Amino acid sequence: MTRFNAPKGTYDVLPPTSTTFLNVVDTLSAAARHAGYGYVQTPIFEDTALYERGVGASTDVVTKEMYTFTDKGGRSLSLRPEGTAGVIRAIVEHNLLSGQRPVKLWYTGPNFRYEQPQSGRYRQHVQVGIEAVGVDDPALDAEVIAVAVAGQRALGLSQVRLLLNSLGDANCRPAYRERLREFLAGCELDEATRARAALNPLRVLDDKRPEVAERLREAPLMADHLCDQCREHYDTVRSALTSLGIEWEEAPALVRGLDYYTKTTFEFVHDGLGAQAAIGGGGRYDGLVADIGGPEVSGVGFGLGVDRYLLAVAAENIEPPDSARCQVFVVPLGAAKVAAVELAGVLRRTGISTDLAYGDRGLKGAMKAADRSGASYAVVIGERDLVENVAQLKDLRSGEQHAVAVTDVAVTLKEKLS
Ligand code: HAM
Repeated sequence: MTRFNAPKGTYDVLPPTSTTFLNVVDTLSAAARHAGYGYVQTPIFEDTALYERGVGASTDVVTKEMYTFTDKGGRSLSLRPEGTAGVIRAIVEHNLLSGQRPVKLWYTGPNFRYEQPQSGRYRQHVQVGIEAVGVDDPALDAEVIAVAVAGQRALGLSQVRLLLNSLGDANCRPAYRERLREFLAGCELDEATRARAALNPLRVLDDKRPEVAERLREAPLMADHLCDQCREHYDTVRSALTSLGIEWEEAPALVRGLDYYTKTTFEFVHDGLGAQAAIGGGGRYDGLVADIGGPEVSGVGFGLGVDRYLLAVAAENIEPPDSARCQVFVVPLGAAKVAAVELAGVLRRTGISTDLAYGDRGLKGAMKAADRSGASYAVVIGERDLVENVAQLKDLRSGEQHAVAVTDVAVTLKEKLS
């Protein structure tokens, strides 16, 4: 028989890691919900042209990494490589900007990029993201950053650094781009890097190869060429972050891998993760909404890489809350099976997480399963108990056991577990 493995660059999320996975998604998104972001879900594939126009034709994501296919109707579609373009498409399509601004949305789900897989870099990765669209206010940039920081703190992470930069806007960036282009023209660069510089010189600043970084040491920086408006915007973002007690590091070469960013850009890096240290990132995008058919408004958002947060949580030895573990394990013996099923149903409806011994294992085997389950209490019902209308309640830590009337089991356990 042929056996199958998960495709290259993908992996299965299984217990107990899956508990941490859900906890990361829940904790990061709770921070967004607490700041007034509503949930949005968009399709996992979109028109290829949306990503070409939205994410940018000079990016690796679009030129090299998209999973693009033609459907049976002859349409070119691509699996979602990132969340922002689809969310903005939905905002524009449903005219959400005609209501209250900013439109504030959060989302989670898988993204697909054909990358060279390694630890922390996968072909399918999950993000939790937010977008706040329709208002160009530096206080909103600070809010977006603060939401991510709140999520990280709630997870218990302490080794995360915030890198911050401003990429200017349509006013000041073109002149800076020209300066950078001129500088790069005088640098010794390989063919591929030269081609990248021709398409988008800023992208070259993102090159992590030490020999390229060395040549770029004297490169002009956007931070020194911001127009008054962008400088003021950036200053206010930093003041607001200070007022929130959020620390950052200036990162003048931070350009990010997607084309739509303007003004504030940021990345969260975790020092325990090696090469794939960027656990999340985002920034403001002035032109994106108009580029995909909407009004001339700005937006700001982030995408946090859940897979990398999992690695960060592990690197800091943070124990996940054990939500998959049941509190109570019910053990039916002989003819008491249906009564046990009924009792487990009652306990679950009362809000007590309950598991049951299946497979007619006999008392010894079933009690071993109860111990292994991590539950605090076992409830054993045998045939004699059935006649007396009781169940045996056993404290699995102390080993203490006593009979309780079946009708009182839920109340008794509720009390003991509170
Ligand atoms: P991004 O930086 O491309 O931004 O991705 C966000 C995060 O997703 C990264 O910081 C990283 O943690 C994670 N990530 C990206 N690619 C992979 C991969 N191949 N394997 C594992 N994790 C990965 C965006 O996607 C923007 N849409 C963020 C944004 C929202 N900007 C504004 N709004």
